Amino acid sequence: MAPAHRCSRIIGTGAALPERAVTNAELAQQLAARGIETSDEWIVARTGIRQRYIADASLTTTELGARAARAALQAAGLEPAALDLIVLATSTADQIFPSTACLVQDELGVAGAAAFDVQAVCSGFVYGLAVADAMIRTGTYRRALVVGAEIFSRILDWNDRTTCVLFGDGAGAVVLEAADQPGILAARLHADGSQSRILCTAGRVAQGAVHGDPFLRMDGQAVFRLAVNVLDSSAREVLDDARMRLDEVDWLIPHQANVRILSATARKLGMPESKLIVTVDQHGNTSAASVPLALDLAVRDGRIRSGQNVLLQGVGGGFTWGSVLVRL
Ligand code: UT7
Repeated sequence: MAPAHRCSRIIGTGAALPERAVTNAELAQQLAARGIETSDEWIVARTGIRQRYIADASLTTTELGARAARAALQAAGLEPAALDLIVLATSTADQIFPSTACLVQDELGVAGAAAFDVQAVCSGFVYGLAVADAMIRTGTYRRALVVGAEIFSRILDWNDRTTCVLFGDGAGAVVLEAADQPGILAARLHADGSQSRILCTAGRVAQGAVHGDPFLRMDGQAVFRLAVNVLDSSAREVLDDARMRLDEVDWLIPHQANVRILSATARKLGMPESKLIVTVDQHGNTSAASVPLALDLAVRDGRIRSGQNVLLQGVGGGFTWGSVLVRL
Protein backbone atom coordinates (compact mmCIF):
# COMPACT_ATOMS: atom_id res chain seq x y z
CA MET A 1 0.00 0.00 0.00
CA ALA A 2 1.22 3.49 -0.82
CA PRO A 3 1.56 5.89 2.09
CA ALA A 4 -1.28 8.44 2.09
CA HIS A 5 1.17 11.31 1.77
CA ARG A 6 2.93 9.92 -1.32
CA CYS A 7 3.89 12.63 -3.82
CA SER A 8 6.21 12.99 -6.78
CA ARG A 9 9.02 15.43 -7.43
CA ILE A 10 11.27 16.34 -10.34
CA ILE A 11 14.83 15.16 -9.67
CA GLY A 12 16.43 15.82 -13.07
CA THR A 13 15.84 17.70 -16.32
CA GLY A 14 17.32 17.32 -19.80
CA ALA A 15 16.97 18.61 -23.33
CA ALA A 16 18.12 17.96 -26.88
CA LEU A 17 18.05 20.03 -30.06
CA PRO A 18 18.99 19.19 -33.64
CA GLU A 19 22.38 20.57 -34.71
CA ARG A 20 21.11 23.02 -37.28
CA ALA A 21 19.70 26.40 -36.20
CA VAL A 22 17.90 28.24 -39.00
CA THR A 23 17.63 32.00 -38.53
CA ASN A 24 14.67 34.01 -39.79
CA ALA A 25 16.89 35.59 -42.44
CA GLU A 26 17.97 32.16 -43.75
CA LEU A 27 14.41 30.91 -43.72
CA ALA A 28 13.17 34.04 -45.54
CA GLN A 29 15.83 33.44 -48.19
CA GLN A 30 14.82 29.77 -48.61
CA LEU A 31 11.14 30.72 -48.89
CA ALA A 32 11.90 33.53 -51.34
CA ALA A 33 13.39 30.89 -53.67
CA ARG A 34 9.89 29.33 -53.74
CA GLY A 35 8.24 32.69 -54.36
CA ILE A 36 7.02 33.05 -50.76
CA GLU A 37 7.56 36.40 -49.11
CA THR A 38 8.40 36.78 -45.43
CA SER A 39 10.99 38.66 -43.40
CA ASP A 40 12.92 38.64 -40.15
CA GLU A 41 11.09 41.86 -39.23
CA TRP A 42 7.60 40.32 -39.66
CA ILE A 43 8.48 37.13 -37.78
CA VAL A 44 10.14 38.97 -34.85
CA ALA A 45 7.39 41.59 -34.58
CA ARG A 46 4.47 39.09 -34.70
CA THR A 47 6.00 36.17 -32.79
CA GLY A 48 9.32 37.05 -31.11
CA ILE A 49 10.92 34.08 -32.91
CA ARG A 50 14.49 34.70 -34.13
CA GLN A 51 15.56 31.16 -35.03
CA ARG A 52 14.44 27.53 -34.77
CA TYR A 53 16.26 24.18 -34.91
CA ILE A 54 15.43 21.91 -37.85
CA ALA A 55 16.17 18.18 -37.90
CA ASP A 56 18.13 16.63 -40.76
CA ALA A 57 16.34 13.88 -42.67
CA SER A 58 18.09 11.11 -40.70
CA LEU A 59 17.19 12.37 -37.19
CA THR A 60 14.18 10.77 -35.50
CA THR A 61 11.82 11.89 -32.74
CA THR A 62 12.98 8.78 -30.87
CA GLU A 63 16.64 9.85 -31.06
CA LEU A 64 15.86 13.40 -29.88
CA GLY A 65 13.68 12.03 -27.06
CA ALA A 66 16.35 9.54 -26.00
CA ARG A 67 19.02 12.29 -25.91
CA ALA A 68 16.85 14.47 -23.68
CA ALA A 69 16.05 11.43 -21.53
CA ARG A 70 19.74 10.56 -21.05
CA ALA A 71 20.49 14.15 -20.01
CA ALA A 72 17.62 14.12 -17.48
CA LEU A 73 18.71 10.73 -16.09
CA GLN A 74 22.28 11.98 -15.75
CA ALA A 75 21.08 15.10 -13.90
CA ALA A 76 19.06 12.83 -11.60
CA GLY A 77 22.07 10.54 -11.06
CA LEU A 78 20.09 7.51 -12.23
CA GLU A 79 20.64 4.69 -14.70
CA PRO A 80 17.80 3.99 -17.20
CA ALA A 81 17.17 0.67 -15.43
CA ALA A 82 15.91 2.62 -12.39
CA LEU A 83 12.82 3.74 -14.32
CA ASP A 84 9.52 1.92 -13.97
CA LEU A 85 7.45 4.26 -16.15
CA ILE A 86 8.05 6.16 -19.41
CA VAL A 87 5.47 8.67 -20.65
CA LEU A 88 6.25 10.44 -23.91
CA ALA A 89 4.30 13.31 -25.45
CA THR A 90 4.48 13.80 -29.21
CA SER A 91 2.36 14.61 -32.25
CA THR A 92 5.19 13.63 -34.59
CA ALA A 93 5.75 9.99 -33.73
CA ASP A 94 8.26 8.11 -35.87
CA GLN A 95 5.82 5.27 -36.51
CA ILE A 96 2.07 4.76 -36.24
CA PHE A 97 3.00 2.11 -33.71
CA PRO A 98 4.68 1.08 -31.49
CA SER A 99 4.66 4.25 -29.41
CA THR A 100 7.70 6.50 -29.43
CA ALA A 101 7.92 5.83 -25.67
CA CYS A 102 8.65 2.15 -26.43
CA LEU A 103 11.23 3.14 -29.07
CA VAL A 104 12.93 5.51 -26.59
CA GLN A 105 12.95 2.75 -23.99
CA ASP A 106 14.75 0.51 -26.48
CA GLU A 107 17.25 3.32 -27.26
CA LEU A 108 17.95 3.55 -23.53
CA GLY A 109 18.72 -0.17 -23.58
CA VAL A 110 16.29 -1.24 -20.90
CA ALA A 111 13.06 -3.21 -20.84
CA GLY A 112 10.30 -3.79 -18.35
CA ALA A 113 9.10 -0.29 -17.44
CA ALA A 114 5.59 0.65 -18.60
CA ALA A 115 5.88 2.91 -21.66
CA PHE A 116 3.24 4.80 -23.63
CA ASP A 117 2.66 8.01 -25.57
CA VAL A 118 0.23 10.78 -24.75
CA GLN A 119 -1.22 12.86 -27.59
CA ALA A 120 -2.25 16.33 -26.51
CA VAL A 121 -0.23 18.32 -29.11
CA CYS A 122 1.36 21.40 -27.50
CA SER A 123 -0.15 20.51 -24.10
CA GLY A 124 1.41 17.04 -24.33
CA PHE A 125 4.21 17.47 -21.82
CA VAL A 126 1.91 18.99 -19.19
CA TYR A 127 -0.56 16.14 -19.79
CA GLY A 128 2.26 13.58 -19.50
CA LEU A 129 3.59 15.12 -16.29
CA ALA A 130 0.11 15.14 -14.70
CA VAL A 131 -0.45 11.50 -15.71
CA ALA A 132 2.95 10.34 -14.41
CA ASP A 133 2.41 12.24 -11.13
CA ALA A 134 -0.99 10.57 -10.69
CA MET A 135 0.52 7.12 -11.40
CA ILE A 136 3.28 7.68 -8.84
CA ARG A 137 0.71 8.85 -6.28
CA THR A 138 -1.09 5.50 -6.59
CA GLY A 139 2.00 3.90 -5.11
CA THR A 140 2.48 1.48 -8.01
CA TYR A 141 5.30 3.42 -9.72
CA ARG A 142 8.41 5.00 -8.21
CA ARG A 143 10.45 6.61 -10.97
CA ALA A 144 9.03 8.04 -14.16
CA LEU A 145 10.60 9.56 -17.22
CA VAL A 146 8.39 12.17 -18.88
CA VAL A 147 9.49 13.32 -22.33
CA GLY A 148 8.19 15.84 -24.86
CA ALA A 149 9.76 15.22 -28.29
CA GLU A 150 8.84 16.62 -31.67
CA ILE A 151 9.98 16.96 -35.27
CA PHE A 152 7.27 19.40 -36.36
CA SER A 153 9.27 20.46 -39.42
CA ARG A 154 8.02 17.24 -41.09
CA ILE A 155 4.34 18.18 -40.88
CA LEU A 156 4.77 21.80 -41.94
CA ASP A 157 3.60 23.02 -45.33
CA TRP A 158 6.69 24.93 -46.44
CA ASN A 159 4.50 26.79 -48.94
CA ASP A 160 2.33 28.24 -46.14
CA ARG A 161 4.07 31.24 -44.62
CA THR A 162 1.38 31.63 -41.95
CA THR A 163 2.57 28.43 -40.24
CA CYS A 164 5.98 27.31 -41.51
CA VAL A 165 7.90 30.16 -39.85
CA LEU A 166 6.50 29.37 -36.40
CA PHE A 167 7.62 25.87 -35.48
CA GLY A 168 10.87 24.04 -34.69
CA ASP A 169 12.17 20.64 -33.57
CA GLY A 170 13.49 19.51 -30.18
CA ALA A 171 12.95 17.44 -27.04
CA GLY A 172 12.91 17.92 -23.29
CA ALA A 173 12.56 15.49 -20.41
CA VAL A 174 12.25 15.22 -16.64
CA VAL A 175 12.71 12.38 -14.18
CA LEU A 176 10.00 12.19 -11.52
CA GLU A 177 10.51 10.26 -8.28
CA ALA A 178 8.17 9.31 -5.44
CA ALA A 179 8.69 11.56 -2.43
CA ASP A 180 7.16 12.43 0.94
CA GLN A 181 7.01 16.14 0.09
CA PRO A 182 5.79 17.63 -3.22
CA GLY A 183 7.15 18.14 -5.87
CA ILE A 184 4.11 18.42 -7.99
CA LEU A 185 1.79 20.66 -5.95
CA ALA A 186 -1.24 20.64 -8.26
CA ALA A 187 -2.14 19.57 -11.78
CA ARG A 188 -5.24 20.25 -13.90
CA LEU A 189 -5.96 19.24 -17.49
CA HIS A 190 -8.72 20.32 -19.89
CA ALA A 191 -9.85 19.88 -23.48
CA ASP A 192 -12.54 21.20 -25.84
CA GLY A 193 -12.87 18.91 -28.85
CA SER A 194 -15.39 21.27 -30.45
CA GLN A 195 -12.37 23.47 -31.32
CA SER A 196 -10.44 20.64 -33.02
CA ARG A 197 -10.41 22.39 -36.41
CA ILE A 198 -8.57 25.57 -35.38
CA LEU A 199 -5.28 23.66 -35.12
CA CYS A 200 -4.94 20.27 -36.73
CA THR A 201 -3.14 17.90 -39.05
CA ALA A 202 -6.16 16.07 -40.36
CA GLY A 203 -4.66 13.52 -42.77
CA ARG A 204 -4.54 9.79 -42.05
CA VAL A 205 -2.84 6.75 -43.49
CA ALA A 206 -5.12 4.11 -45.00
CA GLN A 207 -4.84 1.52 -47.76
CA GLY A 208 -1.15 2.35 -48.13
CA ALA A 209 -1.61 6.09 -48.78
CA VAL A 210 -2.14 9.38 -47.00
CA HIS A 211 -5.78 10.45 -47.16
CA GLY A 212 -6.67 14.06 -46.45
CA ASP A 213 -4.31 16.92 -45.61
CA PRO A 214 -0.98 15.77 -44.11
CA PHE A 215 0.09 19.30 -43.10
CA LEU A 216 -0.43 21.37 -39.97
CA ARG A 217 -3.22 23.94 -40.43
CA MET A 218 -4.03 26.70 -37.99
CA ASP A 219 -6.40 29.59 -37.51
CA GLY A 220 -3.72 31.66 -35.76
CA GLN A 221 -5.96 34.37 -34.38
CA ALA A 222 -8.53 31.93 -32.96
CA VAL A 223 -5.72 29.97 -31.28
CA PHE A 224 -4.19 33.17 -29.94
CA ARG A 225 -7.43 34.36 -28.31
CA LEU A 226 -8.25 30.99 -26.75
CA ALA A 227 -4.67 30.47 -25.57
CA VAL A 228 -4.49 33.65 -23.51
CA ASN A 229 -7.86 32.98 -21.85
CA VAL A 230 -7.24 29.36 -20.91
CA LEU A 231 -3.67 30.00 -19.72
CA ASP A 232 -5.08 32.59 -17.33
CA SER A 233 -7.97 30.44 -16.03
CA SER A 234 -5.86 27.33 -15.71
CA ALA A 235 -3.11 29.14 -13.78
CA ARG A 236 -5.69 30.40 -11.29
CA GLU A 237 -7.18 26.91 -10.97
CA VAL A 238 -3.94 25.18 -9.88
CA LEU A 239 -3.02 28.08 -7.59
CA ASP A 240 -6.42 27.67 -5.90
CA ASP A 241 -5.87 23.91 -5.61
CA ALA A 242 -2.47 24.44 -4.00
CA ARG A 243 -3.72 27.40 -1.89
CA MET A 244 -0.87 29.47 -3.24
CA ARG A 245 -0.84 33.16 -4.10
CA LEU A 246 0.34 34.38 -7.50
CA ASP A 247 3.20 36.30 -5.91
CA GLU A 248 4.52 33.03 -4.45
CA VAL A 249 5.16 31.71 -7.97
CA ASP A 250 8.83 32.27 -8.80
CA TRP A 251 8.72 31.36 -12.50
CA LEU A 252 6.07 31.03 -15.18
CA ILE A 253 6.72 28.66 -18.10
CA PRO A 254 3.78 28.73 -20.50
CA HIS A 255 3.93 26.77 -23.75
CA GLN A 256 6.31 28.70 -26.00
CA ALA A 257 4.17 29.57 -29.02
CA ASN A 258 4.57 33.30 -29.37
CA VAL A 259 6.19 36.02 -27.22
CA ARG A 260 2.98 38.03 -27.51
CA ILE A 261 0.97 35.15 -25.97
CA LEU A 262 3.53 34.86 -23.15
CA SER A 263 3.43 38.60 -22.42
CA ALA A 264 -0.37 38.77 -22.63
CA THR A 265 -0.66 35.82 -20.22
CA ALA A 266 1.70 37.41 -17.68
CA ARG A 267 -0.16 40.72 -18.02
CA LYS A 268 -3.60 39.13 -17.58
CA LEU A 269 -2.38 37.26 -14.50
CA GLY A 270 -0.74 40.40 -13.11
CA MET A 271 2.71 38.78 -13.04
CA PRO A 272 5.86 40.75 -13.88
CA GLU A 273 7.40 39.71 -17.21
CA SER A 274 10.69 39.20 -15.34
CA LYS A 275 9.19 35.93 -14.02
CA LEU A 276 8.59 34.55 -17.52
CA ILE A 277 10.99 32.00 -18.96
CA VAL A 278 11.17 32.69 -22.71
CA THR A 279 12.79 30.33 -25.21
CA VAL A 280 10.49 30.75 -28.20
CA ASP A 281 12.93 33.35 -29.56
CA GLN A 282 15.63 30.66 -29.83
CA HIS A 283 13.60 27.47 -30.41
CA GLY A 284 10.41 28.58 -32.16
CA ASN A 285 7.32 26.61 -31.16
CA THR A 286 8.44 23.03 -30.45
CA SER A 287 4.96 21.85 -29.40
CA ALA A 288 5.17 19.16 -26.66
CA ALA A 289 8.90 19.81 -26.25
CA SER A 290 8.65 23.53 -25.50
CA VAL A 291 7.89 23.44 -21.77
CA PRO A 292 10.54 20.85 -20.76
CA LEU A 293 13.10 22.55 -23.04
CA ALA A 294 12.45 25.88 -21.30
CA LEU A 295 12.49 24.26 -17.85
CA ASP A 296 15.82 22.53 -18.51
CA LEU A 297 17.41 25.70 -19.88
CA ALA A 298 16.41 27.78 -16.85
CA VAL A 299 17.46 25.06 -14.39
CA ARG A 300 20.86 24.72 -16.06
CA ASP A 301 21.51 28.47 -16.34
CA GLY A 302 20.80 28.82 -12.61
CA ARG A 303 17.62 30.93 -12.81
CA ILE A 304 15.38 28.18 -11.41
CA ARG A 305 16.73 27.01 -8.05
CA SER A 306 15.83 24.26 -5.64
CA GLY A 307 12.81 25.16 -3.49
CA GLN A 308 11.30 27.58 -6.01
CA ASN A 309 7.73 27.38 -7.31
CA VAL A 310 7.35 27.01 -11.06
CA LEU A 311 4.09 27.09 -13.00
CA LEU A 312 4.22 24.95 -16.17
CA GLN A 313 1.43 25.50 -18.71
CA GLY A 314 0.41 23.78 -21.90
CA VAL A 315 -2.04 24.87 -24.58
CA GLY A 316 -2.62 23.69 -28.11
CA GLY A 317 -4.37 21.43 -30.58
CA GLY A 318 -7.37 19.50 -29.42
CA PHE A 319 -8.11 22.13 -28.16
CA THR A 320 -6.18 21.13 -25.01
CA TRP A 321 -4.76 23.01 -22.06
CA GLY A 322 -3.56 22.48 -18.53
CA SER A 323 -1.19 23.59 -15.79
CA VAL A 324 1.15 21.84 -13.38
CA LEU A 325 2.42 23.74 -10.35
CA VAL A 326 5.79 22.40 -9.27
CA ARG A 327 8.15 23.00 -6.37
CA LEU A 328 11.67 22.24 -7.61
O1 UT7 B 1 1.17 25.93 -30.20
C1 UT7 B 1 -0.05 26.60 -30.24
C2 UT7 B 1 -0.27 26.98 -31.62
N1 UT7 B 1 0.11 28.23 -32.10
C3 UT7 B 1 -0.12 29.43 -31.58
O2 UT7 B 1 -0.33 29.63 -30.43
C4 UT7 B 1 -0.13 30.55 -32.55
C5 UT7 B 1 -1.17 31.56 -32.19
N2 UT7 B 1 -1.27 32.62 -33.15
C6 UT7 B 1 -0.26 33.49 -33.43
O3 UT7 B 1 0.79 33.41 -32.85
C7 UT7 B 1 -0.53 34.60 -34.43
O4 UT7 B 1 -1.89 34.63 -34.73
C8 UT7 B 1 0.31 34.42 -35.72
C9 UT7 B 1 1.78 34.66 -35.42
C10 UT7 B 1 0.11 33.03 -36.31
C11 UT7 B 1 -0.13 35.46 -36.76
O5 UT7 B 1 -0.03 36.77 -36.24
P1 UT7 B 1 -1.21 37.81 -36.46
O6 UT7 B 1 -0.78 39.06 -35.83
O7 UT7 B 1 -2.48 37.17 -35.97
O8 UT7 B 1 -1.18 37.99 -38.02
P2 UT7 B 1 -2.35 37.75 -39.08
O9 UT7 B 1 -2.66 36.30 -39.20
O10 UT7 B 1 -3.48 38.69 -38.78
O11 UT7 B 1 -1.67 38.22 -40.43
C12 UT7 B 1 -1.34 39.60 -40.65
C13 UT7 B 1 -0.75 39.73 -42.04
C14 UT7 B 1 -1.60 39.05 -43.12
O12 UT7 B 1 -1.53 39.87 -44.28
P3 UT7 B 1 -2.78 40.81 -44.65
O13 UT7 B 1 -3.93 39.89 -44.83
O14 UT7 B 1 -2.93 41.74 -43.49
O15 UT7 B 1 -2.31 41.46 -45.91
C15 UT7 B 1 -0.84 37.78 -43.41
O16 UT7 B 1 -1.04 37.31 -44.72
O17 UT7 B 1 0.53 39.10 -42.08
C16 UT7 B 1 0.59 38.22 -43.21
N3 UT7 B 1 1.48 37.11 -42.88
C17 UT7 B 1 2.82 37.16 -43.10
N4 UT7 B 1 3.61 38.11 -43.62
C18 UT7 B 1 4.93 37.86 -43.69
C19 UT7 B 1 1.18 35.92 -42.33
N5 UT7 B 1 2.29 35.18 -42.18
C20 UT7 B 1 3.31 35.92 -42.64
C21 UT7 B 1 4.71 35.72 -42.75
N6 UT7 B 1 5.46 36.70 -43.26
N7 UT7 B 1 5.30 34.58 -42.33
